[in-house]
Amino acid sequence: MRKWLLLLGILLAGCSYGTTSAPHRPPSDVMGPETRGPVLYARDCAWCHGSNGEGTARGPNLNGDLDGGAYTHFMLSTGRMPLSSPTARAQRRTAVLTPTQIDAVIEHVKTFGGTGPDIPKVEPTTGHLGTGSELYLSNCAACHSATGTGGALTSRRAAPHLTNPDITPVQMAEAMLVGPGCRNNDSTCGFGSGAMPNFDFSETEVNSITAYVSYLQHGGDHGGFAIGRIGPVAEGAVGWIIGLGSILLIGRWVGTRMGDNE
Ligand code: HEC
Ligand code: HEC
Repeated sequence: MRKWLLLLGILLAGCSYGTTSAPHRPPSDVMGPETRGPVLYARDCAWCHGSNGEGTARGPNLNGDLDGGAYTHFMLSTGRMPLSSPTARAQRRTAVLTPTQIDAVIEHVKTFGGTGPDIPKVEPTTGHLGTGSELYLSNCAACHSATGTGGALTSRRAAPHLTNPDITPVQMAEAMLVGPGCRNNDSTCGFGSGAMPNFDFSETEVNSITAYVSYLQHGGDHGGFAIGRIGPVAEGAVGWIIGLGSILLIGRWVGTRMGDNE
């Protein structure tokens, strides 16, 4: 009996541990829709971006000419924001906020005065793959590689894999509109310097580029020998290994032949 009580005690302790250790989140259904954005912003963003998006030493201001719906949606839906600490790096991960919370925060950030674009409407199915391919090769491939596998940049930043199936067409269009990565070269950018440029494509061009990037995401190989589409460095390495292997074999063969003659 004592054993059972002990076990029950441990189980109950486990339960209460589970509930108390979860981060405190205000229940969103209790708050009215008009207050949810401001409350979430105050809790998750203000300590780095300032209570009116004016910026602090820990984060850039959110009121610039690129800031607005598109930039905020991109940063939140790709999980780059909210950053967990001032030393963390803004990179893609599972979104921290739910889609409803993201919408609420976006509405609040839009009241700050940033004059950047709003969340774009994208229809890759209406795009033209050939045009998309040309635009991609001349505008994106230098950083993201011709096959979309990304690569290291001279700024010591890395251009991410665009073949990642988690990247949605809307996020692709947003990336093109705002050029993520924080272009202020001051300390508020954290690890951000070395940004992607922003582009001024027409709607049709955006649809074509997103169509092409979706094609790359779903395994579109174009020409050449696709060694798992691992990029030029690895493909070069494969070449080296095959090449070196043949040289060694020839060397051995010559060596044995010479041995025969002795
Ligand atoms: C720990 C500090 C921190 C927190 C918390 C944080 N951010 Fe950020 N934020 C940054 C830094 C640093 C950057 C620049 C990083 C980069 O672009 O690589 C940034 C960039 C951004 C950008 C891009 C804007 C621009 O002009 O570069 C947006 C939009 C943004 N944050 C929104 C938010 C929102 C909304 C929240 C809350 C849900 C949030 N952030 C929470 C530090 C933070
Ligand atoms: C000068 C180099 C450069 C060029 C050119 C460039 N990008 Fe980027 N791109 C980057 C970097 C760096 C990032 C990461 C930014 C960050 O995480 O803050 C990025 C991020 C992205 C993302 C977000 C990916 C993710 O995992 O969330 C997309 C989508 C994207 N780029 C698409 C494009 C497209 C499409 C083009 C051409 C129209 C392009 N980029 C041109 C450097 C570049």
